[in-house]
Amino acid sequence: MCGIVGYTGSEQATPILMRGLSRLEYRGYDSAGIAVYNGSELVVKKAKGKLSELAGRIEAAPVAGCVGIGHTRWATHGEPSDINSHPHTDGDGAIAIVHNGIIENYQELKEALIARGCVFRSETDTEVVPHLIRTYYTGSMLETLIRVLPMLQGSFALAIASKDDPDTLYCTRKDSPLVLGKTDHGSLIASDIPALLEYTRDVYLLDDFDIARVRPEGISFYDCLGNEKTKEAMHVDWDVKAAEKGGYAHFMLKEIHEEPAAIHNTLAPLIEIGRANKLRFRKDAMPINEEDANAIKNIIISACGTSYHVGMVSRFIFEKLAGIPTQVEIASEFRYRDPIIQDNSLFIVISQSGETADTIAALREAKNCGVKTLAITNVVGSTVAREADYVIYTWAGPEIAVASTKAFVSQQMVAYALAADLAVKRGKMTEDELADYLHEMDQLSAKAQILVDSWEIQAHAANHFRSIRNSFYIGRHLDAISCMEAALKLKEISYVQTEAYPAGELKHGTLSLVEDGTLVCAIATQTDLIDKMISNIKEVKVRGGYVIAFVKESETRIESEVDEVWRIPECPDIFTPILVAIPGQLFGYYMALERGTDIDQPRNLAKSVTVE
Ligand code: M6R
Repeated sequence: MCGIVGYTGSEQATPILMRGLSRLEYRGYDSAGIAVYNGSELVVKKAKGKLSELAGRIEAAPVAGCVGIGHTRWATHGEPSDINSHPHTDGDGAIAIVHNGIIENYQELKEALIARGCVFRSETDTEVVPHLIRTYYTGSMLETLIRVLPMLQGSFALAIASKDDPDTLYCTRKDSPLVLGKTDHGSLIASDIPALLEYTRDVYLLDDFDIARVRPEGISFYDCLGNEKTKEAMHVDWDVKAAEKGGYAHFMLKEIHEEPAAIHNTLAPLIEIGRANKLRFRKDAMPINEEDANAIKNIIISACGTSYHVGMVSRFIFEKLAGIPTQVEIASEFRYRDPIIQDNSLFIVISQSGETADTIAALREAKNCGVKTLAITNVVGSTVAREADYVIYTWAGPEIAVASTKAFVSQQMVAYALAADLAVKRGKMTEDELADYLHEMDQLSAKAQILVDSWEIQAHAANHFRSIRNSFYIGRHLDAISCMEAALKLKEISYVQTEAYPAGELKHGTLSLVEDGTLVCAIATQTDLIDKMISNIKEVKVRGGYVIAFVKESETRIESEVDEVWRIPECPDIFTPILVAIPGQLFGYYMALERGTDIDQPRNLAKSVTVE
């Protein structure tokens, strides 16, 4: 949801800004721009469309200078256009800013600024910021920001360049991510870590309302009152290769192929071999102690999109293994329905990025109620990681494609581990049962590899189905959730209208949409429900539907009922959501490839949704 970069140092800024933007383009890709100080003025270049449009304009008229800011946009206020692209400037172009977030009270501020003579050029909420800074400018940017920031409502990450102090950039944030780094030739600002990896793996994180003064020789941090703060850099393990395509056609494909490693790398830090060669949790790997585990009366999980689907699967697992009543809440809905959060609830948020605005808001709602909170996230130092009482990281490495893949399987691994840990601590699972369970989890990486390696099955099917307009996923129990995730993958990247339905619910209305040739993917991995699934598949077949069944290796009864069978390796029913996700992702990927869509950056979407 908009990517920000900034650089000040001894090198040319434009190539550094453009490289940074290319690593952040997954955050927004409907327009882009830079502002570079060329020794006498701030030169702004911007262009509607992908970053390549901007690159073309810069190539035609290069901008020289060693300090600048850049932006890649996901439009909220004002359509994607050259004028609405960032950076935005004040009236005489002395101050340029880039912004991620939404200034909610911009209309009121804009009217007041117009009454004072400011002339606005764009339809964006962002443009109020350079005008406000100009209007209240005291000669010191730090002082001015301390005055202006309290006037802004909503969320923002801002990077600011000014002609008055041309070597220095300022940046600040509230509820939108921002990271900073230092290299031997200068200092850098970015919305996300991948944009800094080429220069440093030691990053500084800003807290809400912190202000950073960014100079070529170093970075100073201030709180909202202007008191200087000391900050420790946080070291990240990701390297620059992890944020590159590495020979794959798309990040999504690379990330699917990284799933076996993501599964392994997420589980490995949590477990060890104990007595009698039995697997167990490492001491202190799981953050909730026995007393707190036994005090939990219920669990509330809140998340968005794919992470929400992990939550849906996890509900069954927490209830089945640990016996804890669990509810799952879409984060964007949660706080608007006056939720009842009982004492002794454990509130879990799941977020790959750790920066999803709705998920952060749900987490804060829970914290206000005083209950314990736990974050499952992929990004060390992200907002949910910093604000939750407990955190368990997934070790999937950076996920760049908008469609979430390796994050899903690794989040699910954490949830399985957490459920088992709570079950043991609450006396619902013996050490022997745990050892067997962890052994099965430990096998999932190799089984995922088998599925990733058999991608041709889905590529072939996608070639056959590339022209369909709609499709269905049906399943029961855990498979109904797997259907939601597989359908989301197909929709978001291939743009095929796809509905996920509990198989038994189809006959209550939606079956009327099934006609000759309609593609219906039936996920049938839950052993006790195979007969029920066969009945539902028959309902589809007699109406002409083309059925592909996703089943376990050993399943024999469904084959004769359907048109095609995609098999997953044998595993306990509880773990099939991890394995079944992979053919679903591959089918989505190859359908998108056949249909020629922009796979890593699908229309209308952005990777990190940092606005409400
Ligand atoms: O970073 P998060 O896990 O909080 O992101 C949540 C959703 O925005 C994300 O899963 C989204 O639904 C993906 N595009 C799905 O593939």
